[in-house]
Parts: sequence; C-alpha cells; structure tokens
Amino acid sequence: MKKVENFIIYLTSSIRTASYFEKGSKTFDTHIQHLWNSINQFFKEQGSLKIKISSYYIFVNENRFNISIGIIGAYRMLINELLGRGISGVTFNQDVSVNDIKEFIFIIGRSRLSSKSYEEIERLIEKRGIKGIEIERKGDEEITTEGAGSLRRAAIAGFLNSIFYLKDAMENVRLGRSINVTRARKIIRNFIDMVTQDEFFVIGLTTIKNIGSYTLNHSVNVCVLSIAVGLKLGLNRRDIAELGIAGLFHDIGKVDIPDEIIEKPEPLTEEEFEQIKKHPYLGAERVILLKGMKNIPAFAVRGILEHHIDYNGKGYPEINIDKPSLFARIIRVVDTYDAMTTPRVYQKKPYTPENALKYIISKKGEVFDPIVVDAFVEMMGVYPPGSVVELDTGEIGIVISPTTVVIIDKHGKEISRTEDIYRIVRALTPEEAGIDPSIVYFALGTGPEED
Ligand SMILES: [Fe+2]
Ligand SMILES: [Fe+2]
Repeated sequence: MKKVENFIIYLTSSIRTASYFEKGSKTFDTHIQHLWNSINQFFKEQGSLKIKISSYYIFVNENRFNISIGIIGAYRMLINELLGRGISGVTFNQDVSVNDIKEFIFIIGRSRLSSKSYEEIERLIEKRGIKGIEIERKGDEEITTEGAGSLRRAAIAGFLNSIFYLKDAMENVRLGRSINVTRARKIIRNFIDMVTQDEFFVIGLTTIKNIGSYTLNHSVNVCVLSIAVGLKLGLNRRDIAELGIAGLFHDIGKVDIPDEIIEKPEPLTEEEFEQIKKHPYLGAERVILLKGMKNIPAFAVRGILEHHIDYNGKGYPEINIDKPSLFARIIRVVDTYDAMTTPRVYQKKPYTPENALKYIISKKGEVFDPIVVDAFVEMMGVYPPGSVVELDTGEIGIVISPTTVVIIDKHGKEISRTEDIYRIVRALTPEEAGIDPSIVYFALGTGPEED
C-alpha cells in the first residue's frame, strides 16, 4: 500500500513543482528522482505501471486505491490535475527513461487546466520524442459524470476537510495541546449553510464511511446529521452551531481509550466495556479543561456527557438527571443511526438505512426522544439519501433526492436517472449490492459544473 501512496504523492508533487520551477532546478530534479524511484519499484514487481481514473477513484494496475486520511489531499489534487487536462489514464512502460519522465511531467505541469490541453500535451509528447509514456483521453461519459454545482463541490470539499481538521484536533487533544475551536466553528457554519441549501445532498454525504478512521468519519457524520435535525426542529442558528460542536466532539473522549478496544472484532470483556463507558465523561472533561475549548457553552458539554443516556434515563454514565438534555437526545438518535449503517470490524454487515430507521422507531419513547425520532424519520424519508436500491428491472441505483434515483453500473458509474421512485423494489446494503454509494457522491461533488 505504501508503494502506491508514495507514487501518488511523488507524481502530484512533481506536477506541482513543474508548474513553478524551471526544468534545470534542483528542486524539480529532486522530485523527479523520487518519482523515478517509485515507478521503478512497480517495474521490478509488476513489469509496468498504469494509472486510471474512473468514477473519482484511482486505479493503479487495475487495483482500486483506497483513500486513507493522510493522502486525501494528494489524491484529490492528482485527480484534478489529470482530469482537469482531459487525461483519464497514464501508462509508464518499461522502456521509459528518467529524462522522458522529466519532460512529460514538465509538459503536464506547464499546460493549462483545460480539457483542450489534451491535444497540446499529446502533440508535445510526440515532438519531444518521449517514449514509454502513453496518455488516455477522458471519455465523454467521464465528462458528463454528472454535474456538480459549486455548492456540491464545496460540500464535498468541506466534508473531507472537516475530517482532516478533526484528525489534527484529536491528536492535539490526546497530547493535551490546545485546539483551534475557531476553525471548528467555521466548519460548522459552513455545514449549516450547506444543509439549509441542499439538505438531501449534504445528508447523502454521510454515506461516506470509514475515511481516516471510524471515529473521525463517524464524528463528522454525527455533526452533519445533528445540524440537519436541529434545523428540522426549528432551533435557532446559534443553538444549532453549538449542537454542531457537540456532535463533532461527541466521541472525543475516545482519545483516552486504546485503539485495540475500540477496534476489537470480538465482543468486549466486562472490563473493556467499563472503559468504553467512560468516553462520554472523559470527553466532557477534556472539553471543559482544554485550552481553546473554554468558550464552549455548558449545553454543548452536556450533549457530549449525556449522548449515551436513553430517553428513559438508562444508559451511561449513570448520573442523577431526569432526562438527557435536548442536544444529547438528538445526538443519541443520529449517533445510533450512523453507527448501525457503518461497516465495522465487529459489524461486517451493517443495517440498511431503512432497517436502522425501523429499529430507531421501535425504541421510540424508550431509548429515543419521540419528537427527535419523528423529525429524523421525516427528514430521512423511506429511502434516505444515499440508499442503495433495486428497481423493478433489477437495475441498481442510488437515491440522490426525494424523487431521483441514479441508476449505476457495477463500477458505480451513472447510466441514467429515473424520477419514478415507485419503481423501487427494495433497499440493499452496500455490501449486498457490491456498490459503495459514496462513489456516486464523489462523482456528483467533483464532476464539471452543472448549468
Ligand atoms: Fe459515543
Ligand atoms: Fe458516536
């Protein structure tokens, strides 16, 4: 895996360096040398090296590369750099020389970001006598891989950036350093704006699961869903912003619990469960004591402390309160929903959105606040955003609006759309369908501008 990651990083950094350093410069040469070494590793083990971009995923020698948190930046940049110039694939053959690579990267780095650049790049490759590198033109279907309005682009960028932010923040919390709460507030304001403008789409982004680590991606999902429920319940913007803070940091107490326990595939021992049960308390304590967290109001802290307390007062930690606070009751619902619909080491088969909602409804008034459940269920609908569904024709699709299903092939590429939602026969889990719905959201959020 490291080999592929390094290659992506060196390729991206070389293209970037070429755009502002001269060909003879030492900096450019250093980047090319790294790239050359990493390409040679592939030659040694696999003979050749081909990268291909399809449906917003990068395939390296036909294997889909799984994004990890450390590489999201380089990954997105590479896709934009190549697709932006009309290129969807590059093959390096074994007869390529370091000089060919240098010339090629220089051509790419210095060409404009425009699909018209493709012809120019092809012409220059020939003119400079570069051998052993072939490029592939982005197909028409790639270009129409549906439309991102600027809001959708911003939403997906904001979503991924917030995962980045939280990774740093959790690391700082672990080390007892202060964290940048102003940035968290900015992220949350941004989420509130986005949910207000395109609720269905933004909620659908929570089908993106396990980027970085479970706790990171899950915390961002809980934050987004809490904000959406807050809006539905008619809370004012100031309160929703604090609710967002509670959602984003609700599991921050897990920094004090060893990963072996959090990610343990087998059932927990009693002792281990006792430790897990401490995370709401530890989280609240961290938020109160940490520098930088001082201006977080008490009701956000209560949201964190009480997010595992049931509506009827059961759950943990055992504290003497009548009822958990409103923020905690909201987080209790969306937290359960996101956890149930996410694949985990001990939950290989997650619930479909539909079945998770059924479970939540079945515990209404006991575990979950009835008003919050009603608002949540109304917001999610029968087939929540990002649901994988089977149509009456046997085709598979993803629900992207209350009335639109995007029909996709087995690679997640859009084939067509239907507005006839009565054609839906049933919902599937992503695992059953062999389709990750987030692939469609990546495509929606990164394709060309829609008019
Ligand atoms: Fe939790
Ligand atoms: Fe949680």
